[in-house]
Amino acid sequence: MNILILGSGGREHTFAWKISKSPLCKELYIAPGNGGTSKYGENIYADINNFDEIKNLVIHKKIDLVLVGPEDPLVNGIVDYFEQSYELKNVKIFGPNKLGAQLEGSKTFSKSFMKRHNIPSAKFKSFNLNEVDEGIKFLRSSSPPFVLKADGLAAGKGVIICKNLEDAENSFKNMLVNKQFGEASEKVLIEEFLSGIEISCFIITDGENYLSLPEAKDYKRIGENDTGLNTGGMGAVSPVNLYDQEFEKKVENRIIKRTIEGLKKDNIPYKGFLFIGLMNVNGDPYVIEYNVRMGDPETQVVIPRIKNDFLEVLISCIDMDLKSMKINIDKRTTSTVILSSKGYPEKYQKGFKILGLDEIKNSIIFHAGTIKEENNIVSNGGRVIACTGIGQTLLESLKISYELAKKIDWKDKYYRKDIGNDLIDKRKDDK
Ligand code: AMP
Ligand code: GLY
Repeated sequence: MNILILGSGGREHTFAWKISKSPLCKELYIAPGNGGTSKYGENIYADINNFDEIKNLVIHKKIDLVLVGPEDPLVNGIVDYFEQSYELKNVKIFGPNKLGAQLEGSKTFSKSFMKRHNIPSAKFKSFNLNEVDEGIKFLRSSSPPFVLKADGLAAGKGVIICKNLEDAENSFKNMLVNKQFGEASEKVLIEEFLSGIEISCFIITDGENYLSLPEAKDYKRIGENDTGLNTGGMGAVSPVNLYDQEFEKKVENRIIKRTIEGLKKDNIPYKGFLFIGLMNVNGDPYVIEYNVRMGDPETQVVIPRIKNDFLEVLISCIDMDLKSMKINIDKRTTSTVILSSKGYPEKYQKGFKILGLDEIKNSIIFHAGTIKEENNIVSNGGRVIACTGIGQTLLESLKISYELAKKIDWKDKYYRKDIGNDLIDKRKDDK
């Protein structure tokens, strides 16, 4: 089969690495890809939100299956576009359609879905531009911290948490009246604050059945000890010791099964990944958000633990045959440490030559923001490289990730030194 992966980050590099191992994969293309993906296939420049351009590419390269990496083409309806196009009707595409992708594309949609189907989540109210006064009144009757969320996609920046009422009122008006996040904040949600530990849980579903993928913990803040601005994610580990059997059962019964049933009841066809951001509140799982794609950098620790031919899994999902599949998970631990450009998630410089990109034993280097210039790999984004280590224990995998993190170098490299530390103390096997 000829495969096309859409996207350019560490997640897509991981997909390319994994899919290239499948005997079913003949030609592999990545659009637009990055400096690392060209090792496994051909990078082709394309705007992944220009569906006519993607269509031409699919026809020209005789693509049989398209794997969509990021959320925006899904929210913009790429799957519907394929289904409605005569020439693309028989091309397999992995991901939910526009309606299903609303689970990520609109927080009002996803929160109403959770409420309707009794899926535990923070209490909320949604306000539009005609309801500014009601929103302010609601804030005044709530207690801090105040959680404000833009309804639509805001490149991971649409959540503001305020400790005091004055800040909350100002932020609320700024989002709604001044359209701080453009169209995305035409509606704003005010949510109850949930206190606990966040865990990322992943399934693949064909809308009838589902397969659980390994869970992961993401480290979102730029600074050590979870301080500073939110980023796309500065590191991740899998498995997460807090995700024990009892918690997993609760997630299955209270969240995953109700989600699949809810999709069916609401007549929402859904095929693809579903990434459920969870908060563990005193041992009980609550949904923070749904994403209709895999996480980044979680993919860089989740996919290396899957032993299956991943292309086979994707095909059986698209063909509605997930029931016959079983996921085989490597019991070992994976960790990834993100090397970013100094200044990220704010202003940063790019264009620096990266040195020391040779893998060591039990490691995989995934590129995120890189580009190949002549024979050099050059930094080309905020998050630049993911250093994935594989070990018998978390300590062992982190040791490998950090060995890579030190060895790979360029001007302006930055990374967190405490990825996974919070889990080590609690891990009996590492003591
Ligand atoms: P989201 O974009 O929905 O993933 O939110 C970004 C981050 O804000 C999450 O990863 C959480 O750390 C935090 N967050 C979102 N909603 C809540 C909530 N209701 N209570 C506490 N923290 C939250
Ligand atoms: N790492 C969080 C995300 O991909 O949304």
